[in-house]
Amino acid sequence: MSNLSRRNVLSLGVALGLASAAGVVPAWASTGTTAAGADPWWVWDDEVDGLMAGILDAGQVPALNTALRPWVDNDDPLPTGLPADLAGYLRRVNRLPSWADPAKLRRAADFNRRKDTYLFMLYGLGSGIMSTVIPREAKSVYWSAGGANMQDRAAKTFTFGYDLSDLNAFEPSGQFVVTANKTRLVHAAVRHLLPQSAHWRAVADERIPISNGDILVTFHSLGTYVHRKLLEWRVPMSAADEEAFLHQWQVAIHLLGVRDEFIPKTWAEADAQSTRVLTPLLAPTTEGKELAAELLGLTAQIDLGVTRGFLNEFVRYVLSDAVGDWLGLPRDYAAATLVRTGWPAYIAFREGLLPIAPAGFYLFDQFLRAIAMLFLNKVSSPTSTPITIPTGNRPG
Ligand code: HEM
Repeated sequence: MSNLSRRNVLSLGVALGLASAAGVVPAWASTGTTAAGADPWWVWDDEVDGLMAGILDAGQVPALNTALRPWVDNDDPLPTGLPADLAGYLRRVNRLPSWADPAKLRRAADFNRRKDTYLFMLYGLGSGIMSTVIPREAKSVYWSAGGANMQDRAAKTFTFGYDLSDLNAFEPSGQFVVTANKTRLVHAAVRHLLPQSAHWRAVADERIPISNGDILVTFHSLGTYVHRKLLEWRVPMSAADEEAFLHQWQVAIHLLGVRDEFIPKTWAEADAQSTRVLTPLLAPTTEGKELAAELLGLTAQIDLGVTRGFLNEFVRYVLSDAVGDWLGLPRDYAAATLVRTGWPAYIAFREGLLPIAPAGFYLFDQFLRAIAMLFLNKVSSPTSTPITIPTGNRPG
């Protein structure tokens, strides 16, 4: 945990768009528990965790990965060759919760399509880099098998975002329900594997990773953060759009195994929870700095039509200077001015709120499109990496 003062936490939260300056009283808050008394930091995913531990210990993961490979669409039958208890479990969980609202999910899909370029940018450069200053996440990702190959890992994570943002995501012909369940299996495997890593144990402040609390924190770094940024950037959204966007995330984290009682019911609740559980946790770590350098290095290899200085300043713009300093991103003051003045004008013009294209319009446009293409190409190319269950940890 970081030792940020309350004032710094609040100003960092405001800078990140994660807190309102007024400081709302959060739901999962002062007692650290919900009304029902359970504490999300101490809830994992017991049933599937037990199943995956058995499968890992029996050396059955490679066979399981082979069996799971053709299982892609939401309406695909469960593949054959799964251990009977895992098949029984998946049969129960591989479906939308009873409270899922098809009309809201359809609206969310349409909203994702309408705002896709902003979403790719914010998930990719905002949430993606923010994950490196969430210490538990950075340490888990770094010391798990996937940490050794960030390009591959980023591609797999893209798969999740892409499937979630797809027009058919939650429809029978979509893929998100299956992708979420595969991710749930990966997380269960990681809960068994990471505690066996001496490297992870040496730096971790927890015994078992990826609790319900951790997943909620990551949700806030994704959904809650992106929602706040869209509001801050005055991207037009109807109340129904906002509600639908939240609903899609509520369903997504349910599918990842978060108990319904912990899932925020409104954006106000989500904002409050985020202020309480995400903002104070943000801090640099050795692992996170290395992951960020790698992720930004990979992004900079692509022709985005901008300099590395611009990329660094854009990250500072979306995540705050505090985060930029933690990650050691060198300053480029000319690019900083361009981003800080040009980006709001670019959005206003793009959204029809400004009659004349501002200076730098084409630069921003190309940058936004290049990030979107990076996202789309990576996952739709035949070489895109399917989500697979790891069999070990990062060697060290
Ligand atoms: C794996 C998404 C929360 C740590 C994955 C994968 C996806 C994903 C798609 C599979 C891709 C891959 O294997 O790299 C998510 C989402 C989350 C979430 C959407 C929350 C909304 C977390 C949290 C942690 C975490 C809270 C840790 C604190 C990991 C690790 C892996 C993984 C260590 C395995 C990487 C490997 O292959 O070794 N996650 N995750 N995730 N996730 Fe998460």
